Amino acid sequence: MGLLDRRFEGLESSYLFSEIASRARRFAKAHPEREIISLGVGDLALPLAPSVCEALVLASREQGEPGGFKGYGPYEGRAFLREALASDYARSGAELSSEEIFINDGAKNALFSLLSLFEPGITVLIPDPVYPAYLDANILAGNRAGFIEGGPENGYLPSPPESAAASLVYLCSPGNPTGAVYDADGLKAWVSWALERDAVIIFDSAYRSFIRECGLPKSIYEIEGAKECAIEIGSFSKSAGFTGLRCGWAVFPMALEREGVSLNKLWRQRIAVSENGAPYVVQRAALASLEEPGASECARAADFYLNSARRIAAALKSAGISCTGGLNSPYVWLECPAGLSSWELFDMLLERAGVVCTPGAGFGRRGEGRCRLSAFAKAEDCERALGRMLEVLNRL
Ligand code: MLT
Repeated sequence: MGLLDRRFEGLESSYLFSEIASRARRFAKAHPEREIISLGVGDLALPLAPSVCEALVLASREQGEPGGFKGYGPYEGRAFLREALASDYARSGAELSSEEIFINDGAKNALFSLLSLFEPGITVLIPDPVYPAYLDANILAGNRAGFIEGGPENGYLPSPPESAAASLVYLCSPGNPTGAVYDADGLKAWVSWALERDAVIIFDSAYRSFIRECGLPKSIYEIEGAKECAIEIGSFSKSAGFTGLRCGWAVFPMALEREGVSLNKLWRQRIAVSENGAPYVVQRAALASLEEPGASECARAADFYLNSARRIAAALKSAGISCTGGLNSPYVWLECPAGLSSWELFDMLLERAGVVCTPGAGFGRRGEGRCRLSAFAKAEDCERALGRMLEVLNRL
Protein backbone atom coordinates (compact mmCIF):
# COMPACT_ATOMS: atom_id res chain seq x y z
CA MET A 1 0.00 0.00 0.00
CA GLY A 2 1.39 3.42 -0.95
CA LEU A 3 1.22 6.70 0.92
CA LEU A 4 -0.46 9.00 -1.56
CA ASP A 5 -3.99 8.97 -2.91
CA ARG A 6 -3.58 7.85 -6.52
CA ARG A 7 -7.03 9.15 -7.39
CA PHE A 8 -5.34 12.52 -8.00
CA GLU A 9 -3.92 10.94 -11.17
CA GLY A 10 -7.49 10.87 -12.53
CA LEU A 11 -7.63 14.70 -12.52
CA GLU A 12 -6.49 16.89 -15.39
CA SER A 13 -2.89 17.92 -14.70
CA SER A 14 -3.98 21.55 -14.34
CA TYR A 15 -7.38 22.91 -13.24
CA LEU A 16 -9.18 24.61 -16.13
CA PHE A 17 -9.15 28.12 -14.71
CA SER A 18 -5.53 27.83 -13.51
CA GLU A 19 -4.49 26.71 -17.00
CA ILE A 20 -6.31 29.67 -18.57
CA ALA A 21 -4.74 32.10 -16.11
CA SER A 22 -1.27 30.74 -16.75
CA ARG A 23 -1.66 30.91 -20.56
CA ALA A 24 -2.91 34.50 -20.24
CA ARG A 25 0.01 35.39 -17.93
CA ARG A 26 2.53 33.86 -20.35
CA PHE A 27 1.05 35.84 -23.22
CA ALA A 28 1.04 39.08 -21.19
CA LYS A 29 4.70 38.53 -20.25
CA ALA A 30 5.70 37.95 -23.86
CA HIS A 31 3.63 40.94 -25.10
CA PRO A 32 3.75 43.63 -22.40
CA GLU A 33 2.48 46.19 -24.94
CA ARG A 34 -0.83 44.36 -25.45
CA GLU A 35 -3.91 45.03 -23.32
CA ILE A 36 -5.69 41.81 -22.31
CA ILE A 37 -9.37 41.75 -21.44
CA SER A 38 -10.66 38.75 -19.54
CA LEU A 39 -14.05 37.31 -20.37
CA GLY A 40 -12.77 34.04 -18.90
CA VAL A 41 -13.31 33.00 -15.29
CA GLY A 42 -16.57 34.22 -13.78
CA ASP A 43 -15.04 36.78 -11.45
CA LEU A 44 -16.87 40.05 -10.95
CA ALA A 45 -15.69 43.49 -12.06
CA LEU A 46 -18.02 45.75 -10.06
CA PRO A 47 -17.16 46.68 -6.47
CA LEU A 48 -19.28 45.38 -3.60
CA ALA A 49 -22.72 46.97 -3.30
CA PRO A 50 -22.59 49.99 -0.92
CA SER A 51 -24.87 48.38 1.69
CA VAL A 52 -22.87 45.15 1.64
CA CYS A 53 -19.65 47.09 2.10
CA GLU A 54 -21.19 49.15 4.91
CA ALA A 55 -22.31 45.95 6.68
CA LEU A 56 -18.75 44.59 6.44
CA VAL A 57 -17.36 47.77 7.99
CA LEU A 58 -19.94 47.89 10.79
CA ALA A 59 -19.54 44.19 11.63
CA SER A 60 -15.76 44.57 11.66
CA ARG A 61 -15.94 47.57 14.05
CA GLU A 62 -18.36 45.64 16.26
CA GLN A 63 -15.58 43.08 16.83
CA GLY A 64 -13.49 45.69 18.62
CA GLU A 65 -16.32 47.08 20.78
CA PRO A 66 -16.99 45.95 24.34
CA GLY A 67 -19.37 43.00 24.13
CA GLY A 68 -19.24 43.04 20.34
CA PHE A 69 -16.62 40.36 19.75
CA LYS A 70 -17.91 37.23 18.04
CA GLY A 71 -15.83 34.09 18.23
CA TYR A 72 -16.90 30.66 17.07
CA GLY A 73 -20.42 30.72 15.76
CA PRO A 74 -22.95 27.95 15.32
CA TYR A 75 -21.55 25.37 12.89
CA GLU A 76 -24.66 25.65 10.71
CA GLY A 77 -24.22 29.41 10.36
CA ARG A 78 -25.73 32.44 12.06
CA ALA A 79 -29.50 32.28 12.56
CA PHE A 80 -29.99 35.79 11.06
CA LEU A 81 -28.59 34.64 7.70
CA ARG A 82 -30.35 31.27 7.65
CA GLU A 83 -33.66 33.00 8.42
CA ALA A 84 -33.10 35.65 5.74
CA LEU A 85 -32.35 32.93 3.19
CA ALA A 86 -35.51 31.03 4.17
CA SER A 87 -37.50 34.26 3.56
CA ASP A 88 -35.73 34.74 0.24
CA TYR A 89 -36.67 31.21 -0.84
CA ALA A 90 -40.27 31.84 0.27
CA ARG A 91 -40.45 34.88 -2.04
CA SER A 92 -39.84 32.64 -5.05
CA GLY A 93 -42.27 29.97 -3.83
CA ALA A 94 -40.04 27.50 -1.96
CA GLU A 95 -40.98 26.89 1.68
CA LEU A 96 -37.93 25.98 3.76
CA SER A 97 -37.20 26.30 7.47
CA SER A 98 -33.98 27.95 8.60
CA GLU A 99 -33.03 24.57 10.17
CA GLU A 100 -32.75 23.17 6.67
CA ILE A 101 -30.21 25.79 5.54
CA PHE A 102 -26.50 25.55 6.39
CA ILE A 103 -24.11 28.45 5.77
CA ASN A 104 -20.62 27.68 4.50
CA ASP A 105 -17.52 29.44 3.20
CA GLY A 106 -18.38 28.93 -0.46
CA ALA A 107 -20.13 26.51 -2.76
CA LYS A 108 -16.98 24.93 -4.15
CA ASN A 109 -15.90 23.51 -0.76
CA ALA A 110 -19.42 22.29 -0.09
CA LEU A 111 -19.54 20.47 -3.45
CA PHE A 112 -16.50 18.45 -2.38
CA SER A 113 -17.33 17.87 1.27
CA LEU A 114 -20.93 16.77 0.73
CA LEU A 115 -19.65 13.64 -1.01
CA SER A 116 -18.31 12.47 2.34
CA LEU A 117 -21.94 11.64 3.29
CA PHE A 118 -22.04 8.89 0.69
CA GLU A 119 -20.34 5.53 0.34
CA PRO A 120 -17.22 5.85 -1.87
CA GLY A 121 -17.61 4.11 -5.22
CA ILE A 122 -21.24 5.08 -5.88
CA THR A 123 -22.41 5.89 -9.40
CA VAL A 124 -23.13 9.53 -10.16
CA LEU A 125 -24.55 11.24 -13.23
CA ILE A 126 -22.94 14.48 -14.29
CA PRO A 127 -24.06 16.81 -17.07
CA ASP A 128 -21.66 17.26 -19.97
CA PRO A 129 -20.75 20.08 -20.46
CA VAL A 130 -20.76 21.48 -16.90
CA TYR A 131 -18.68 23.20 -14.18
CA PRO A 132 -15.63 20.89 -13.86
CA ALA A 133 -15.61 20.75 -10.03
CA TYR A 134 -18.45 18.16 -10.01
CA LEU A 135 -16.39 15.59 -11.90
CA ASP A 136 -13.18 16.40 -10.03
CA ALA A 137 -14.92 16.00 -6.66
CA ASN A 138 -16.24 12.59 -7.71
CA ILE A 139 -12.89 11.42 -9.07
CA LEU A 140 -11.31 12.26 -5.71
CA ALA A 141 -14.17 10.58 -3.84
CA GLY A 142 -13.55 7.38 -5.83
CA ASN A 143 -17.00 7.44 -7.44
CA ARG A 144 -18.01 6.18 -10.88
CA ALA A 145 -19.20 8.98 -13.15
CA GLY A 146 -21.64 8.62 -16.02
CA PHE A 147 -22.62 11.57 -18.17
CA ILE A 148 -25.91 13.11 -19.20
CA GLU A 149 -25.23 14.93 -22.40
CA GLY A 150 -26.35 18.42 -23.26
CA GLY A 151 -26.19 19.85 -26.74
CA PRO A 152 -28.13 21.88 -29.28
CA GLU A 153 -30.47 18.85 -29.65
CA ASN A 154 -31.87 19.31 -26.11
CA GLY A 155 -31.07 22.98 -25.54
CA TYR A 156 -28.21 21.92 -23.21
CA LEU A 157 -30.79 20.61 -20.74
CA PRO A 158 -30.34 16.84 -20.40
CA SER A 159 -33.52 14.90 -19.59
CA PRO A 160 -33.56 11.93 -17.21
CA PRO A 161 -32.27 8.80 -18.96
CA GLU A 162 -34.81 5.95 -18.93
CA SER A 163 -32.34 3.18 -18.32
CA ALA A 164 -29.49 4.67 -16.25
CA ALA A 165 -29.39 4.15 -12.52
CA ALA A 166 -27.33 6.36 -10.23
CA SER A 167 -27.18 7.28 -6.57
CA LEU A 168 -26.52 10.97 -7.25
CA VAL A 169 -27.26 13.26 -10.15
CA TYR A 170 -26.00 16.81 -10.58
CA LEU A 171 -28.10 19.58 -12.12
CA CYS A 172 -26.92 23.15 -12.63
CA SER A 173 -29.55 25.75 -13.54
CA PRO A 174 -28.92 28.37 -14.88
CA GLY A 175 -26.22 26.22 -16.37
CA ASN A 176 -22.53 26.88 -16.22
CA PRO A 177 -21.21 27.16 -18.97
CA THR A 178 -24.27 27.10 -21.24
CA GLY A 179 -26.67 29.53 -19.53
CA ALA A 180 -29.52 27.08 -20.18
CA VAL A 181 -32.29 27.13 -17.53
CA TYR A 182 -34.65 24.28 -16.66
CA ASP A 183 -38.35 25.14 -16.64
CA ALA A 184 -40.68 23.60 -14.05
CA ASP A 185 -41.57 20.65 -16.30
CA GLY A 186 -37.90 19.87 -16.89
CA LEU A 187 -37.23 19.80 -13.15
CA LYS A 188 -40.42 17.83 -12.42
CA ALA A 189 -39.16 15.09 -14.74
CA TRP A 190 -35.89 14.92 -12.76
CA VAL A 191 -37.63 14.93 -9.38
CA SER A 192 -39.92 12.03 -10.45
CA TRP A 193 -36.93 10.15 -11.83
CA ALA A 194 -34.99 10.59 -8.57
CA LEU A 195 -37.97 9.65 -6.38
CA GLU A 196 -38.60 6.48 -8.40
CA ARG A 197 -34.96 5.39 -7.98
CA ASP A 198 -34.15 6.73 -4.50
CA ALA A 199 -31.47 8.87 -6.14
CA VAL A 200 -30.39 12.22 -4.69
CA ILE A 201 -30.23 15.33 -6.87
CA ILE A 202 -27.50 17.87 -6.18
CA PHE A 203 -28.96 21.08 -7.53
CA ASP A 204 -26.48 23.91 -8.05
CA SER A 205 -28.30 27.23 -8.06
CA ALA A 206 -25.22 29.50 -7.93
CA TYR A 207 -26.60 31.60 -10.80
CA ARG A 208 -30.23 31.83 -9.57
CA SER A 209 -30.08 35.62 -9.17
CA PHE A 210 -29.72 36.03 -12.95
CA ILE A 211 -33.09 34.48 -13.79
CA ARG A 212 -35.29 37.24 -15.18
CA GLU A 213 -37.89 35.29 -17.16
CA CYS A 214 -41.10 34.77 -15.18
CA GLY A 215 -42.01 31.21 -14.30
CA LEU A 216 -38.51 29.74 -14.43
CA PRO A 217 -37.68 28.04 -11.10
CA LYS A 218 -34.90 29.59 -9.03
CA SER A 219 -34.83 26.63 -6.68
CA ILE A 220 -35.55 22.93 -7.07
CA TYR A 221 -37.77 23.20 -3.99
CA GLU A 222 -40.34 25.05 -6.09
CA ILE A 223 -41.07 21.54 -7.42
CA GLU A 224 -43.30 19.20 -5.42
CA GLY A 225 -41.43 16.20 -4.03
CA ALA A 226 -37.99 17.83 -4.30
CA LYS A 227 -37.55 17.99 -0.54
CA GLU A 228 -37.53 14.19 -0.49
CA CYS A 229 -34.78 13.87 -3.09
CA ALA A 230 -32.67 17.02 -3.46
CA ILE A 231 -29.81 18.91 -1.85
CA GLU A 232 -29.39 22.49 -3.10
CA ILE A 233 -26.11 24.38 -3.19
CA GLY A 234 -26.25 28.18 -3.25
CA SER A 235 -23.68 30.95 -3.34
CA PHE A 236 -23.25 34.66 -2.71
CA SER A 237 -20.30 34.74 -5.14
CA LYS A 238 -22.16 35.83 -8.24
CA SER A 239 -25.28 37.34 -6.66
CA ALA A 240 -23.38 39.69 -4.36
CA GLY A 241 -19.73 39.65 -5.47
CA PHE A 242 -18.45 37.29 -2.75
CA THR A 243 -15.87 35.53 -4.99
CA GLY A 244 -13.21 36.85 -2.61
CA LEU A 245 -15.20 37.09 0.63
CA ARG A 246 -16.46 33.47 0.36
CA CYS A 247 -19.95 32.63 1.57
CA GLY A 248 -22.53 30.14 0.36
CA TRP A 249 -25.09 27.70 1.69
CA ALA A 250 -26.35 24.16 1.35
CA VAL A 251 -29.95 23.05 1.83
CA PHE A 252 -30.64 19.67 3.41
CA PRO A 253 -34.42 19.37 3.81
CA MET A 254 -35.74 17.51 6.87
CA ALA A 255 -37.68 15.20 4.53
CA LEU A 256 -34.51 13.99 2.79
CA GLU A 257 -33.76 10.56 4.20
CA ARG A 258 -31.96 7.54 2.81
CA GLU A 259 -31.65 4.12 4.46
CA GLY A 260 -33.66 5.51 7.37
CA VAL A 261 -31.09 8.27 8.06
CA SER A 262 -31.73 12.01 7.85
CA LEU A 263 -29.20 13.70 5.56
CA ASN A 264 -29.84 16.95 7.45
CA LYS A 265 -28.62 15.22 10.63
CA LEU A 266 -25.60 13.70 8.86
CA TRP A 267 -24.57 17.04 7.38
CA ARG A 268 -24.95 18.72 10.80
CA GLN A 269 -22.55 16.11 12.21
CA ARG A 270 -20.19 16.41 9.26
CA ILE A 271 -19.75 20.16 9.48
CA ALA A 272 -19.50 20.17 13.29
CA VAL A 273 -16.46 17.91 13.14
CA SER A 274 -14.76 19.51 10.15
CA GLU A 275 -15.66 23.22 9.83
CA ASN A 276 -16.09 26.46 11.68
CA GLY A 277 -18.10 28.11 8.91
CA ALA A 278 -17.93 31.54 7.33
CA PRO A 279 -16.70 34.54 9.36
CA TYR A 280 -19.32 36.57 11.24
CA VAL A 281 -18.47 39.76 9.34
CA VAL A 282 -18.92 37.97 6.01
CA GLN A 283 -22.27 36.56 7.12
CA ARG A 284 -23.39 40.09 8.11
CA ALA A 285 -22.40 41.31 4.65
CA ALA A 286 -24.27 38.39 3.05
CA LEU A 287 -27.34 39.36 5.07
CA ALA A 288 -27.10 42.91 3.72
CA SER A 289 -27.23 41.51 0.17
CA LEU A 290 -30.61 39.91 0.93
CA GLU A 291 -32.22 42.86 2.71
CA GLU A 292 -33.16 46.26 1.31
CA PRO A 293 -31.49 48.41 0.09
CA GLY A 294 -28.67 45.86 -0.50
CA ALA A 295 -30.92 43.42 -2.37
CA SER A 296 -31.84 46.08 -4.95
CA GLU A 297 -28.24 47.21 -5.27
CA CYS A 298 -27.17 43.60 -5.98
CA ALA A 299 -30.05 43.09 -8.42
CA ARG A 300 -28.92 46.21 -10.31
CA ALA A 301 -25.39 44.80 -10.55
CA ALA A 302 -26.81 41.52 -11.92
CA ASP A 303 -28.86 43.52 -14.45
CA PHE A 304 -25.70 45.33 -15.50
CA TYR A 305 -23.92 42.02 -16.26
CA LEU A 306 -27.02 40.63 -17.96
CA ASN A 307 -27.15 43.69 -20.19
CA SER A 308 -23.55 43.05 -21.30
CA ALA A 309 -24.31 39.35 -21.82
CA ARG A 310 -27.28 40.22 -24.05
CA ARG A 311 -25.15 42.63 -26.07
CA ILE A 312 -22.45 40.00 -26.58
CA ALA A 313 -24.99 37.34 -27.63
CA ALA A 314 -26.79 39.72 -30.01
CA ALA A 315 -23.57 40.92 -31.65
CA LEU A 316 -22.29 37.37 -32.14
CA LYS A 317 -25.60 36.29 -33.65
CA SER A 318 -25.63 39.21 -36.07
CA ALA A 319 -22.13 38.19 -37.13
CA GLY A 320 -23.56 34.74 -37.95
CA ILE A 321 -22.04 32.97 -34.94
CA SER A 322 -24.36 30.58 -33.24
CA CYS A 323 -24.61 30.98 -29.45
CA THR A 324 -26.84 30.33 -26.46
CA GLY A 325 -27.09 31.82 -22.96
CA GLY A 326 -26.83 35.48 -22.09
CA LEU A 327 -30.52 35.72 -21.26
CA ASN A 328 -30.95 34.45 -17.71
CA SER A 329 -27.24 33.98 -17.29
CA PRO A 330 -24.05 36.04 -17.36
CA TYR A 331 -22.48 33.48 -19.73
CA VAL A 332 -22.62 33.30 -23.53
CA TRP A 333 -21.85 29.89 -25.02
CA LEU A 334 -20.71 30.16 -28.61
CA GLU A 335 -19.97 27.72 -31.38
CA CYS A 336 -16.35 27.90 -32.57
CA PRO A 337 -16.41 29.02 -36.20
CA ALA A 338 -14.50 27.44 -39.08
CA GLY A 339 -14.19 24.07 -37.37
CA LEU A 340 -11.73 25.37 -34.78
CA SER A 341 -11.31 23.41 -31.56
CA SER A 342 -12.08 25.29 -28.37
CA TRP A 343 -8.42 25.67 -27.34
CA GLU A 344 -7.57 26.79 -30.89
CA LEU A 345 -10.19 29.52 -30.66
CA PHE A 346 -8.95 30.40 -27.15
CA ASP A 347 -5.37 30.85 -28.46
CA MET A 348 -6.55 32.79 -31.52
CA LEU A 349 -8.68 35.21 -29.48
CA LEU A 350 -5.87 35.71 -27.00
CA GLU A 351 -3.18 36.27 -29.62
CA ARG A 352 -5.15 38.29 -32.17
CA ALA A 353 -7.76 40.07 -30.02
CA GLY A 354 -6.15 40.09 -26.57
CA VAL A 355 -9.33 38.53 -25.17
CA VAL A 356 -9.48 35.62 -22.73
CA CYS A 357 -12.42 33.23 -23.04
CA THR A 358 -12.98 29.77 -21.53
CA PRO A 359 -12.54 26.81 -23.90
CA GLY A 360 -15.55 24.50 -23.89
CA ALA A 361 -13.40 21.37 -23.76
CA GLY A 362 -12.66 22.25 -20.13
CA PHE A 363 -16.32 21.64 -19.28
CA GLY A 364 -16.46 18.12 -20.73
CA ARG A 365 -16.29 16.19 -23.98
CA ARG A 366 -19.51 17.76 -25.28
CA GLY A 367 -18.04 21.21 -24.65
CA GLU A 368 -15.50 20.73 -27.42
CA GLY A 369 -16.18 23.03 -30.40
CA ARG A 370 -17.62 25.75 -28.12
CA CYS A 371 -16.25 28.53 -25.93
CA ARG A 372 -17.74 30.45 -23.00
CA LEU A 373 -17.65 34.22 -22.71
CA SER A 374 -18.30 35.71 -19.28
CA ALA A 375 -20.06 39.08 -19.06
CA PHE A 376 -18.69 39.71 -15.55
CA ALA A 377 -16.58 42.58 -16.84
CA LYS A 378 -16.86 46.35 -17.01
CA ALA A 379 -19.27 47.39 -19.77
CA GLU A 380 -16.57 49.29 -21.65
CA ASP A 381 -14.26 46.24 -21.47
CA CYS A 382 -17.02 44.01 -22.83
CA GLU A 383 -17.61 46.45 -25.70
CA ARG A 384 -13.93 46.67 -26.60
CA ALA A 385 -13.44 42.90 -26.29
CA LEU A 386 -16.46 42.32 -28.49
CA GLY A 387 -15.22 44.73 -31.17
CA ARG A 388 -11.81 43.06 -31.26
CA MET A 389 -13.25 39.53 -31.25
CA LEU A 390 -15.64 40.30 -34.10
CA GLU A 391 -12.76 41.65 -36.17
CA VAL A 392 -10.98 38.31 -35.76
CA LEU A 393 -14.07 36.14 -36.16
CA ASN A 394 -15.34 38.00 -39.25
CA ARG A 395 -12.08 37.22 -41.04
CA LEU A 396 -12.40 33.46 -40.59
C1 MLT B 1 -16.54 29.89 -13.44
O1 MLT B 1 -15.98 30.78 -14.08
O2 MLT B 1 -17.06 28.88 -13.95
C2 MLT B 1 -16.58 30.02 -11.96
O3 MLT B 1 -16.43 31.33 -11.59
C3 MLT B 1 -15.49 29.24 -11.35
C4 MLT B 1 -15.79 28.99 -9.93
O4 MLT B 1 -16.85 29.36 -9.41
O5 MLT B 1 -14.94 28.34 -9.29
